[in-house]
Amino acid sequence: MSATVTREPRSRILSGVQPSGKLHLGNYFGAIKQHVERQDRGDCFYFIADYHALTTLKEAEEKDLAVAAKNKQFAPRSARQILAENVRDVALDYLALGLDPAKATFFRQSDVPEVCELAWVLSTVSGMGLLERAHSYKDKVTRGITPSVGLFTYPVLMAADILIYRSHLVPVGKDQEQHLEMTRDIAGAFNHAFGEVFPLPEAVFNEAAVVPGTDGQKMSKSYGNTIDIFAEGKPLERAVMGIVTDKRDLAEPLDPDTCNVFALYKLFAAPAEVEAMAAKYRAGGFGYGNAKKELLAKIDARFAPARERRKQLERDPGLVEEVLTAGAKRAREVAQITLRLVRERVGMHPRPVS
Ligand code: ADP
Ligand code: TRP
Repeated sequence: MSATVTREPRSRILSGVQPSGKLHLGNYFGAIKQHVERQDRGDCFYFIADYHALTTLKEAEEKDLAVAAKNKQFAPRSARQILAENVRDVALDYLALGLDPAKATFFRQSDVPEVCELAWVLSTVSGMGLLERAHSYKDKVTRGITPSVGLFTYPVLMAADILIYRSHLVPVGKDQEQHLEMTRDIAGAFNHAFGEVFPLPEAVFNEAAVVPGTDGQKMSKSYGNTIDIFAEGKPLERAVMGIVTDKRDLAEPLDPDTCNVFALYKLFAAPAEVEAMAAKYRAGGFGYGNAKKELLAKIDARFAPARERRKQLERDPGLVEEVLTAGAKRAREVAQITLRLVRERVGMHPRPVS
């Protein structure tokens, strides 16, 4: 762990990830990879969005029950067990993938409750129309998630997450673009009403803005089409071999540009290897089975060190809490300064010291 970090000016970088299940290649290439890379370049704040995960906890519980009904070995967990385990899992995943808590401030969202107070203040300058246009709310309701008030105001809490640390850059996957636009709108509305407090944050995307899942749709926990970062052995093989392709005879040439296996391979391979794979596709006589094996080897090579590291980290029972508590202390100091300013600007009394 190195403590020397060269910081760019005005570069508070912030992002959050929901603790809502196992992290997958979409999360990695869309978000986590750049989170880890940026920790050497700026003042990074990364958090586990457990307040946000509450909006879909009931569904997570139902999913456990459904798995238990099919698999008698599986004991369904209570909602609180699910949330606690998922938070720990995401923390271990990030640490194993290279997040260094000496460089980045890594914390649990709910350890900084000031964010809820800011969310309330921001909700009073957020137009109903703005929230009603949110794609993610509509998508989630269409997928059967209970339309709670929390689900509807999810983007306001997300704006508070970003603004309370007065963040400049927010590295996320493309699906979060609208949430960032809403954050800018809300920040602008607050600044307009009460004077400049918040910088307008920008989303930053990786080249792999949308990673396809095994069925070709966007890879997502909710579509059951994921390849998990920490899967290994048979389950990983099953996921990779299950990637949907078109049906062609082995002898026929294949089209790399429309193939899900190829799209995933590109994320792992060097440019010369990508070219070589494309040539094999076009030549024919190669077959999707071989392409899948090469992809599997790439996934194993990339993530084997992180898997080993995760197993070691897991052996230290106090580690996650230690890291998250230290991160929350740093994050909270920043959050409290912003909130003090916000309260003053809106004309509230300074909070009495308890
Ligand atoms: P999921 O869709 O599996 O529930 P999340 O919404 O928790 O994933 O996403 C966490 C982060 O990973 C976000 O920044 C999101 O934009 C990114 N992400 C998720 N899926 C993908 C994908 N298929 N391609 C690119 N980025 C993704
Ligand atoms: N909505 C994000 C997602 O589903 C998670 C998130 C919550 C977030 N608060 C944030 C991301 C603030 C970036 C910044 O992936």
